[in-house]
Amino acid sequence: MQNSPIGVFDSGYGGLSVLKEIIKVLPQYDYIYLGDNARTPYGNRSYSTIYEYTLQAVNKLFSMNCKLVILACNTASAKALRTIQQNDLPHLAPKNRVLGVIRPCVEILNEKTVTGHIGILGTTGTVVSNSYPLEIQKLFPHLTTFQEACPMWVPLVENDEYDSDGADYFVRKNIANLLSKSSDIDTIILACTHYPLMLEKIQRFVPNNINIITQGEIVAKSLENYLFRHPEMEKKCSKNKNITFLTTDSTENFNLQGAKFLKYYTKIEAIKIDLVN
Ligand code: DGL
Repeated sequence: MQNSPIGVFDSGYGGLSVLKEIIKVLPQYDYIYLGDNARTPYGNRSYSTIYEYTLQAVNKLFSMNCKLVILACNTASAKALRTIQQNDLPHLAPKNRVLGVIRPCVEILNEKTVTGHIGILGTTGTVVSNSYPLEIQKLFPHLTTFQEACPMWVPLVENDEYDSDGADYFVRKNIANLLSKSSDIDTIILACTHYPLMLEKIQRFVPNNINIITQGEIVAKSLENYLFRHPEMEKKCSKNKNITFLTTDSTENFNLQGAKFLKYYTKIEAIKIDLVN
């Protein structure tokens, strides 16, 4: 029976940059987007907190009949995905699936880089987890990874300050730090789904010869490929082009801020939910 929307989760608005690209590639499906805006950012929180919050969100989406959930958040993918897949899914909902954003973005790296030096810009949580270097090492052992945590970038985006002069200071500083780790970096992954909103600013501080990779399109294509390879899951996904937005904080803010991420998709009427009870 096709009665299952695809769940998309992020700590806040960032996952909307992924949802936007998913809708372009797969417009026929129904989606439920869940932003845990009341508790964002996750980036500086401990492993156990991020895991607990992410599991609550996944459970919420499962309870709303999502059988497939995308963690459109690098921090949650880095800190909670594996435990949820290995320890929780088997007893919670063995036929459901939870997918992350790290693996698809690593898979395309080999075709992007010439020098083999990859830069990662992400939250402290993502960087400290070492998920990117480990995944890159597994798939492409000849590549070398350099990371820089940008703890101020998500708060700048969440507080609508991403385009301000104040943001220049942090963007310039973090990019200079990353590039000082290797002069051969030719590919940088924006390893946080909030960062595409700052793309123009980031481009100003990154030399033209360096590729900047945003994740939305890559994750969307990877989801398309996943559904093609898993017809048993694809069959369960409902196709009425409905998108439901859930937030744990103010719906007014979500409707306003969310529109900036989705751009052409202007009508957002978010519903407030509680993840704790
Ligand atoms: N969009 C999330 C990510 O991709 C932001 C995490 C946070 O809440 O700090 O990492």
